[in-house]
Amino acid sequence: MSPASVTLPTTAESVLPLVLQAMSRTPDARLRELMASLTSHLHAFILETRVTEEEFERAVKFIIDIGQATDEKTNEVILAADLLGVSSLVAILNNPAPHASHDAHAQEEAASHAALLGPFWRANAPFCQAGDNIARGNTLGTPLDVRGVVYDKHGQPLAGATVDVWHASPVGLYENQDDAQENMNLRGRFKTDAHGAYHFKTVRPAGYPVPTHGPCGDLLRAQLRHPNRPAHLHFMVSTPGHKVLITQVFADGDANLTSDPVFGVTAPLVGQFEERLIDGRPQANLTQDFHLVEGEMHFPHPPIP
Ligand code: BEZ
Ligand code: FE
Repeated sequence: MSPASVTLPTTAESVLPLVLQAMSRTPDARLRELMASLTSHLHAFILETRVTEEEFERAVKFIIDIGQATDEKTNEVILAADLLGVSSLVAILNNPAPHASHDAHAQEEAASHAALLGPFWRANAPFCQAGDNIARGNTLGTPLDVRGVVYDKHGQPLAGATVDVWHASPVGLYENQDDAQENMNLRGRFKTDAHGAYHFKTVRPAGYPVPTHGPCGDLLRAQLRHPNRPAHLHFMVSTPGHKVLITQVFADGDANLTSDPVFGVTAPLVGQFEERLIDGRPQANLTQDFHLVEGEMHFPHPPIP
């Protein structure tokens, strides 16, 4: 046997060991582990499904297309991860929301469930005063009053925590998707008071379709999947010494709670939106507390500027 014959692939199955060998000296141990596992799964997938050259070309084109469809208004790469359930999987895996401890010494409260960030968070929403209305300009809709308390893992209120909120309008569009809305409409950051409480006013958001004009829309159509997310508010709750909680609160009763195209809904994240008539006009209220866990305060990279 010549020396070359042990280092050159002879069959489809013989490529992987050579690739793993080539990557095996990667000094960064975590990169080495991730790339070895990813490559192994990719090879297994290609062998199992017998991917054709045309299908490989199509996959490369999809990746190029989601990159090229990403700009300062939309992030098609994140959307692709969302539609595959990958964003929700990473959020749930890394924020397991353990149950409240029954250990009398620990006295730990259950952490809030996390949910995917989505493509529409902007990092610099205006700081607002408690009770401010984030429905700016002429945003028409059912008034919604939102309040709650931010707690630490012992159930103690956290004063001075930041509650960053963003949501779609009553016609189902984020301000960056809609020229009719003011810059930063339906976005704001609130500080909790000495009792850990936050409070803001807004209008009830509508459910909306995820963007379908790009390659991800083509994929949804090819899979006969609907694009409609249930109505929700996004929250990012942070304070030093605690893990940043990224989550969403969904409108109870929404028809799409069990068919969210990005798999973001978990049972504790369905909020109780109380709606009643005051002087003949609807008024909605939502009370939503948040429970943080200790950890590093790390913010995600904003999907759009
Ligand atoms: C959102 O909730 O903002 C969102 C999440 C995933 C895809 C599109 C939008
Ligand atoms: Fe959203």
